[in-house]
Amino acid sequence: MHLGPLHLRFAASFIALSLLVVFNITLFSLDCALAAELEDAPPILLLDDVDSDLDVSQGSVSDLGSPLDQMYEPEFAAFDRSIIGRDQVRDTNALINNEAFQLNVRQGDTERFVFKLSQLSERELEVVQLELRDEEHTWEDIDEDEDEDEAEEDEKDENNDDLSGKGLDRDSVDLNLASAKQKLGKRQQGARRLFLSANTCLQPQAFNATKTTQPPPQLTLYVSTSTDNVEPGPGADSNSQVSMVFNEGAIMYNFTTTTDVYVGVHAPNVAEIFDKPYNIKIAISTDGYYYSYNVDDDADLIWVDSDSQGALLITHNLTDSNDEKEQQRIMNTPPYVMFAQDKSNPSINGVRYSFCGLEQNAQIATTKDGKYSNMVQTGMTKRGQGNFPKQQFFFSGLKPSTSYLGILAKTNVTDTGSPNLVGGGGHVFKATNFQTKSDHGNCNIVLNLTFCDQVAYSVPSNPNFGNASVLAKFYDDYAAEAWGYFKKALAQVACEAPVTQRYSLTRNCSDCEAAYKDWLCSVTIPRCEDFSNNASYLHPRAMSQPFPDGERLDNATMSLYAENYGDGKVLGKAFLQSRSSRIDEFIKPGPYKEVLPCDYLCYRLVQSCPSSMGFGCPLPGQKGFNSSYYIKNETNGEVVCNYPGSAHIFSGSSKDAVSVGLTIVVLVLVSLLLAC
Ligand SMILES: *[C@@H]1O[C@H](CO)[C@@H](O)[C@H](O)[C@H]1NC(C)=O
Ligand SMILES: *[C@@H]1O[C@H](CO)[C@@H](O)[C@H](O)[C@H]1NC(C)=O
Ligand SMILES: *[C@@H]1O[C@H](CO)[C@@H](O)[C@H](O)[C@H]1NC(C)=O
Ligand SMILES: *[C@@H]1O[C@H](CO)[C@@H](O)[C@H](O)[C@H]1NC(C)=O
Ligand SMILES: *[C@@H]1O[C@H](CO)[C@@H](O)[C@H](O)[C@H]1NC(C)=O
Ligand SMILES: *[C@@H]1O[C@H](CO)[C@@H](O)[C@H](O)[C@H]1NC(C)=O
Ligand SMILES: *[C@@H]1O[C@H](CO)[C@@H](O)[C@H](O)[C@H]1NC(C)=O
Ligand SMILES: *[C@@H]1O[C@H](CO)[C@@H](O)[C@H](O)[C@H]1NC(C)=O
Ligand SMILES: *[C@@H]1O[C@H](CO)[C@@H](O)[C@H](O)[C@H]1NC(C)=O
Ligand SMILES: *[C@@H]1O[C@H](CO)[C@@H](O)[C@H](O)[C@H]1NC(C)=O
Ligand SMILES: *[C@@H]1O[C@H](CO)[C@@H](O)[C@H](O)[C@H]1NC(C)=O
Repeated sequence: MHLGPLHLRFAASFIALSLLVVFNITLFSLDCALAAELEDAPPILLLDDVDSDLDVSQGSVSDLGSPLDQMYEPEFAAFDRSIIGRDQVRDTNALINNEAFQLNVRQGDTERFVFKLSQLSERELEVVQLELRDEEHTWEDIDEDEDEDEAEEDEKDENNDDLSGKGLDRDSVDLNLASAKQKLGKRQQGARRLFLSANTCLQPQAFNATKTTQPPPQLTLYVSTSTDNVEPGPGADSNSQVSMVFNEGAIMYNFTTTTDVYVGVHAPNVAEIFDKPYNIKIAISTDGYYYSYNVDDDADLIWVDSDSQGALLITHNLTDSNDEKEQQRIMNTPPYVMFAQDKSNPSINGVRYSFCGLEQNAQIATTKDGKYSNMVQTGMTKRGQGNFPKQQFFFSGLKPSTSYLGILAKTNVTDTGSPNLVGGGGHVFKATNFQTKSDHGNCNIVLNLTFCDQVAYSVPSNPNFGNASVLAKFYDDYAAEAWGYFKKALAQVACEAPVTQRYSLTRNCSDCEAAYKDWLCSVTIPRCEDFSNNASYLHPRAMSQPFPDGERLDNATMSLYAENYGDGKVLGKAFLQSRSSRIDEFIKPGPYKEVLPCDYLCYRLVQSCPSSMGFGCPLPGQKGFNSSYYIKNETNGEVVCNYPGSAHIFSGSSKDAVSVGLTIVVLVLVSLLLAC
């Protein structure tokens, strides 16, 4: 590769950094975990990346000074931030704005970190300078300034190629830099708000998991802004520090300061019960939390439906804008990732609010390299009321009759893949509960139907009938066939006539079509629940048939329902058969319960369509109502009746539209849990 002066300078700086790191290690005698991390980490390899035949004499180590010396910052800025990011140990346990620092905290130990405000202004300087490079026109306004030191003179020479390549004037850059530094110097006097956050990625493991049901105790964070207490921790003066215990593997703390910040993370000693250290990621930011969680707001995730081995979940509307471009932009970028966990599995206990902990410990993670991510298909959909974009998650391969937790999360990572951004660590939302159905396996989720495009729920099924696509097509074709007859009937009505000659002053044929389609899809494609589900709003169907596995309902169960429905001991057709004989004839699902269509679907049909079409609805209390419809009532958050877009646990309070413009890029985490 061609070795430009910038490369050389970078390589030279890097040697200085590496030396400094080695020096620091000897000085502070780091624990073995970090030392081992150093051996494994790639910093030395970086030299090869630049050039192996490096001529160190070009910039000897002695005149490089501190790696934080401002004169070198512009050159670091010229490199991809990710290259710098790899060098996690350039200044031991020094936190850098919006960058996570990962390390082990051994049981009983306190790991210390420092956040230097002076460092912060250096980084801001980078930003200022980069902006100036792009704004040529402003340069002529800058006055001459003689106060250039030797170092800057050197830098000027080496950078000449680079800058002239951009057609820029060298002197102006340096002058501008100087004035920018002055400005920053002044600004630094004021108090700054800092956002400190950390995640527990790995916890100590119980020696005997059958005996220990509790997760290990949480870590404690100590923060001092006093130079009298540069080693905050359990042993330090409590008046000069604040302490906070992590909550489910996460901590967030914001404060203002005019001085450097000293941080301690203390791990309790539970070595008698638990083996191995804790592993954490900690980050500080001037802009917002790198890691965060909010489990107080309503869950952003809605459980739509499940079957015996799958589940469908969707987010709220991600925008309420009707702008086509805005909607398309959002449709192109699914913003969320999701973690899922069998509730009886304890692996995430203690790290439920930790993005890093969930990624490492959750049974299912939709992050790119997450565990069993092939069990989840995620994508965007506009299905549901309002047809606004939302993200959906479709699980398969789950255990029957099992309770799961679904945890939505979001990271701020750009296309470059660098996680060093505001909120780059990830935000964890409140968990949503969902359950899989029993293993009778006669309810199956169908989605992606062509005609009934709003249908995405469990329908009566039989494993012997065919896979989900075959099942979906069976129901969809049935509805589409009925739609054909309806269209012929509607063609007899004067739809295009002047308003006064139409069948209604308030409804037209489009309203009638829409109402008919919603009604038709919900009556021809019944929403299925387990027969063992005793919820009062469900209607038993096909009770006289055998389950797909050949099992039949016993007489006691049969008579139970006969009594409840006041028909003497005789079960009516509405219990013995499905709503449509086609289902019993071709699919043969066996006993199941139906979530009846909502009554309003029928009323709206009658109101919207010409009376000549002869639609009518039974009213509550009338014969046939109880076996046909259910009154819509979402006060207790359950789906008591079926309608397009219906879901479980619908909060009703629609969320603020979430602005999205982020790509989910997944952090490739290197496990730092090393044997010590
Ligand atoms: C773990 O604890 C259980 C219950 O106390 C005990 O039966 C089992 O032998 C223990 N296993 C080990 C490896 O110590
Ligand atoms: C900062 O912390 C305070 C109290 O700890 C909290 O009320 C406030 O919301 C936090 N600010 C931000 C921006 O998170
Ligand atoms: C989306 O917005 C529509 C229209 O405001 C609303 O009816 C629907 O309930 C919303 N859906 C979700 C999942 O929030
Ligand atoms: C994502 O990171 C960028 C760059 O740090 C920042 O400007 C933006 O505000 C961040 N977005 C969120 C939602 O935190
Ligand atoms: C549904 O359709 C979407 C987009 O066409 C596709 O990504 C997804 O895999 C389909 N899901 C199923 C279960 O067929
Ligand atoms: C479902 O079954 C049909 C017919 O047996 C087959 O053509 C199709 O590929 C199957 N689809 C899936 C997703 O397995
Ligand atoms: C039917 O009425 C709705 C308003 O109720 C209107 O938006 C729509 O354009 C009308 N369709 C036709 C074909 O007139
Ligand atoms: C439903 O009721 C029947 C009869 O009372 C009972 O045997 C069954 O366990 C109940 N199912 C559930 C899930 O509670
Ligand atoms: C169940 O009822 C049917 C008809 O009512 C009867 O023929 C059958 O013997 C009964 N079965 C048992 C086990 O009681
Ligand atoms: C319909 O169901 C309600 C309870 O949901 C019940 O009170 C009523 O008696 C039932 N009507 C008929 C005709 O069975
Ligand atoms: C809706 O359900 C709640 C509680 O389950 C009940 O108190 C209320 O009367 C119901 N409303 C209607 C209209 O049925």
